[in-house]
Amino acid sequence: MRAQRIGRRAVLSGLGAGLVLASPGNGTTAGSKPIGLRAIAASRGLAYGAALGLRSVDEDQALADAYTRECAVLVPEGDAKWAGLRPAAGVFRFDGLDRLLGIADRHGQSVRGHTLLWHEALPAWVPEALRAGQGYDILSDHIFTVVGRYRGRIPVWDVVNEAVAPDEGREDGLRPTPWLRALGPRCLDLAFKAARAADPGAVLMLNDHDLEYASPLQDRRRRAVLRLLETLLARGVPVDGLGLQSHLRIGRPFDPRILHRFIGEVGGLGLMVMITELDVGDAAVTGDIPTRDQAVADHASAFLDTVLDHACVKAVTCWGLSDRQSWLHHHPAGWRPDGQPMRPLPLDVELRPKPLWQALGDAFRNAPKRSSAAWMPG
Ligand code: XIL
Repeated sequence: MRAQRIGRRAVLSGLGAGLVLASPGNGTTAGSKPIGLRAIAASRGLAYGAALGLRSVDEDQALADAYTRECAVLVPEGDAKWAGLRPAAGVFRFDGLDRLLGIADRHGQSVRGHTLLWHEALPAWVPEALRAGQGYDILSDHIFTVVGRYRGRIPVWDVVNEAVAPDEGREDGLRPTPWLRALGPRCLDLAFKAARAADPGAVLMLNDHDLEYASPLQDRRRRAVLRLLETLLARGVPVDGLGLQSHLRIGRPFDPRILHRFIGEVGGLGLMVMITELDVGDAAVTGDIPTRDQAVADHASAFLDTVLDHACVKAVTCWGLSDRQSWLHHHPAGWRPDGQPMRPLPLDVELRPKPLWQALGDAFRNAPKRSSAAWMPG
């Protein structure tokens, strides 16, 4: 497997990044037109994109242009969550998601819907409705309405987000969410089946976190995810793929062989895999900005070379595009001991490509070519 060559490749990509940053135009432009990651990824049959919170581009044309250049896929960061769509029972607010789809249409981009069944971002009326025994009705109504409205226009959905938590007491390793407590594991079946019925052509994903590293907990999490996928498939539940969130953190134990084997096992079930929320936290790295940025890029290179070796991996999306807008700036996971902001994304706050941008480009260029999935933008 190619993961063994990571060390050398990481060093080479580091050198490449230095060159690009030192001389604009080197590797990032064709004539006068800058080449984005979307084009580099597409040349290998891969889709690249990023999460987008509309507020971040509303008054920032330069960032909006960067999304157009870099991304073939947009993921609504909040507009397709219950908190974004459902201010009250019986009320759907589609303006944000409609607007995001309009942007994607204008720029030939695809959209991954995120997300239909999650224990976070729930408006207060939902737990009340669950306690009142209305779980089945509100979940199926929500999915039929939302997925049905965008039938044929949102080709991939993160149907279920963050389903496993093997240390939270359940024998089956499922996370004891308000949904699960109200409906049992069949809430997962219901979500996937409703989504399939509402848009038979959409790719339906299970999306989960902390599956990338070699710790004992992440080992248990991988086993719980595999078991869940096998169980769902055995029950005839229409799940098409697994999303690895991939919120990477420098300093966590990475073993390419373990991750490579895991993705092989998921692919062996006939499922596709996507890297869905990539960012790299560098709280453990001291030093100046170039040192930190290079450490972020090297960490991502090792990860990307490992996962992209598998042809079942079809897409990579980062959780944001520029360090201007990372969710980590508002989350405890984003704190650094020196109080400096994280630099977890491919473009810096001035929208210049960072070594991480170069690492992504190099990993795409070096990935074995695969047949692009039907849902990818042309
Ligand atoms: C985050 C958003 O980025 C934040 O803006 C919001 O406040 C909380 O949710 N895993 C997920 C994403 O699946 O939906 C989360 O997004 C980040 C972690």
